[in-house]
Amino acid sequence: MKNNKTCRESFVVKTSIVLPSDTNNYGTMFGGKLMAYIDDVAAISATRHARSHVVTASTDSVDFLHPIYEGHSVCLEAFVTYTGKTSMEVFVKVIAENMISGERNVCAMSFLTMVAIDEDTKPTPVPPIVPETEIEKMLFNSGKERAEMRMKHKQETKKMASQFGTDLPW
Ligand SMILES: CC(C)(COP(=O)(O)OP(=O)(O)OC[C@H]1O[C@@H](n2cnc3c(N)ncnc32)[C@H](O)[C@@H]1OP(=O)(O)O)[C@@H](O)C(=O)NCCC(=O)NCCS
Repeated sequence: MKNNKTCRESFVVKTSIVLPSDTNNYGTMFGGKLMAYIDDVAAISATRHARSHVVTASTDSVDFLHPIYEGHSVCLEAFVTYTGKTSMEVFVKVIAENMISGERNVCAMSFLTMVAIDEDTKPTPVPPIVPETEIEKMLFNSGKERAEMRMKHKQETKKMASQFGTDLPW
């Protein structure tokens, strides 16, 4: 049995300036770039919790609530909120900041499920999470329901995937 870990132990913060190469024709950040950052911090957070290699099993929907402009900073915070046997739910919050005016907006949030894997790439047990703060407890208490919904969604996705072939489209 692995020792319990607190959410704080898996806390990750990443801050970057949005550069021209990160943006589209309108000078706002590419959604795909932000999603790569989200996956990145979630993987680091889950690895800190499990102290083993991890893979992304799923990402819940990401709503882009505000555009993130070139020259602004983007700060991602991540921590493990809920654990199953081998899976970890990681919450990621994205805050953009106008570095001149100081205006800050929560631009996106997401939950990702990361699975710890062993040397044979098989799922392997992770330590249980222990929430401490009010917000951590709120996220922990609702975690089981989200995990169940994801597995239901996965079954539906697998069913739909089975209806598509792998033939080349030409
Ligand atoms: C994720 C993966 C390891 C799960 O393996 P599996 O053989 O389906 O294993 P299991 O069914 O035993 O599931 C293992 C755990 O993952 C969870 N899980 C599996 N698929 C999931 C999904 N789509 N969403 C959320 N959780 C999922 C299960 O609930 C289980 O959690 P628990 O042990 O805490 O109860 C496997 O599907 C995989 O390797 N997928 C590809 C991952 C990858 O390449 N990611 C990068 C994408 S580019």
